[in-house]
Formats: sequence, structure tokens, C-alpha cells
Amino acid sequence: MQRAGRLPFPAIAGNDAWSKHLFDNRHGTGQSALSAIQQLTNLGVAGRMFCVVGYGWVGRGIAQYARGLGARVTVVEVDPIAALEALMDGHDIANLSDAAPRADVLVTATGGINGLGSEHFALLKDGVLLANAGHDRREIDVAALAGAAHSAEEKRPGVVCYTLDGGTRVYLLVQGELVNIAGGQGHPADILDLSFSVQLAAARLLASENLTPGLHKLPESIDRQVARTKLGTLGIVLDELTPEQTRFREQWAVE
Ligand SMILES: NC(=O)c1ccc[n+]([C@@H]2O[C@H](COP(=O)([O-])OP(=O)(O)OC[C@H]3O[C@@H](n4cnc5c(N)ncnc54)[C@H](O)[C@@H]3O)[C@@H](O)[C@H]2O)c1
Repeated sequence: MQRAGRLPFPAIAGNDAWSKHLFDNRHGTGQSALSAIQQLTNLGVAGRMFCVVGYGWVGRGIAQYARGLGARVTVVEVDPIAALEALMDGHDIANLSDAAPRADVLVTATGGINGLGSEHFALLKDGVLLANAGHDRREIDVAALAGAAHSAEEKRPGVVCYTLDGGTRVYLLVQGELVNIAGGQGHPADILDLSFSVQLAAARLLASENLTPGLHKLPESIDRQVARTKLGTLGIVLDELTPEQTRFREQWAVE
């Protein structure tokens, strides 16, 4: 909106705060998406091949929690840095055409459309589970999936089996809506505390400062204060740099 000159008021990019996306997107979605997939299907995760499409903060969390439960993880990415990060985090990397046929569970987390599109349905393995954790149900082209199937049957609440030509059965969770929210309990409450603290701090700033129209970052000091407060609720107190250590960090010339 700002680039298009369509943001006539000040706004704060809450999602860009570390206290939001590091914990809400990664841990909140990672944990709740895995819980939802297990509750919806009552299937084990250990030993299964998870394909995670998109290795942003949400994808990182899903990959991490799936691996923590014993799954093998292949990541599909379009960004070379994110792909390299996934590789060095210990996951396999492949393009979707190579990863899709191997996936027992395929989860989209791209923030875009057609992370899994019609051109990939024929590649899917019989019995694959499809779930979306990105923010729009169009991450999986559900209409095309329904169009490609010759039958659709709800096997369990929130689990529809589409049978494709050739007999491949594809199980779509909660119609491609956000699996952790539409099919589960959503984020753990104590992780949402962080997101809501960021929102409250941002709202307070908007109310108290005369910010110029356009997009602003949440100041780093407030972001750190949210994290420090959270640690405080857990009884954790951090050391602080001594003045000498601070001076050393801030100097630019070697003494
Ligand atoms: N389910 C939830 O509760 C929940 C919580 C937080 C965020 N979200 C949503 O999840 C989505 C992802 O969030 P994020 O923080 O990870 O975003 P992000 O921008 O950090 O990551 C998205 C990643 O997907 C990759 N990508 C985009 N299109 C792709 C494609 N077609 N194939 C492969 N990779 C592709 C990008 O390169 C990027 O690395 C957003 O829409 C966000 O709003 C959902």
C-alpha cells in the first residue's frame, strides 16, 4: 500500500517484530499445525516424509516440529537463501515436482497462491495428506483438486478424500483452510501473549506519538522489552553488559 501511495495513515508492521514472527509464526504455527494434523487424522508422524512448501518463519516451524516428532522433512523453496538455510538446518531440498511424489504429508506455508497447483496433483502418492498453514486457503488449489477428482468423501471430520483418475487417494485437511486454526486449537495461548503484546505496544505508540503516514517498524527497544517481559514471567533474569563491554562493542577502531 505504501509503495502504491495508498497508505494515508501511520501503520506499524507488527509481524516484522522479532517478538512476533520468531515465536508466533515459527513455534506457534509449528506446534499447533502438527497437533492439528495428528488430531484430525490420528496418524503417526514418526518415519513419515513431510514436504514443507515455503521455508519462511512458518515453514521453519512446521519443519522443526515435524522433525522433532520423527518425520523426515523435504523443503520446497523458491528463494535460494531460504533453501540453503533449510539445507543447512538438516532438511532435504527439492523442487515440488521431485518432492511431491515422495510426500506422505504435504504442508503449504508460502503466503501465496497455488503453492500446490493442478499441475502437481498427478504426481502425488496414494494416501497423501494435504494441509495448508499459510494465510490463505488458495495456497492449495482446492477448486482444481475437486475438479480433478471423480469422487470426494469425508472420511473423518475435516478430512476429505479426493479420488483422482488412476485411483490415487488424496486426503485434504479442513478444505485447505489454516490447518492449525480451522482444524485445531490455534496457537498456544502463551505464545499469543507475545503477539498481543506487540500489537498493544504498537497501538500505544500510534496513539502517543505523532508518527508520519506510512509504514513504521516497531522500535527495537520495545521489541526487546516484550521479550524481556516474557522472560520475566518465566522467572528468567538476564545479565547485562558492563559499561566497558558496551563501549568495546560500540567502538569502531581497534585500540
Ligand atoms: N497458520 C497460522 O496460524 C499462521 C501464523 C503466522 C503466519 N501465517 C501465514 O503463513 C504465511 C507464511 O508466513 P511466513 O512468516 O513464513 O512468511 P515468509 O514470507 O517468511 O515465508 C514465506 C516463504 O515461502 C516462500 N515461497 C513463496 N512462494 C513459494 C512457492 N510457490 N513455492 C515455494 N516457496 C515459496 C518464500 O520464498 C518465503 O521464504 C503467511 O501468509 C502468513 O500470514 C500463518
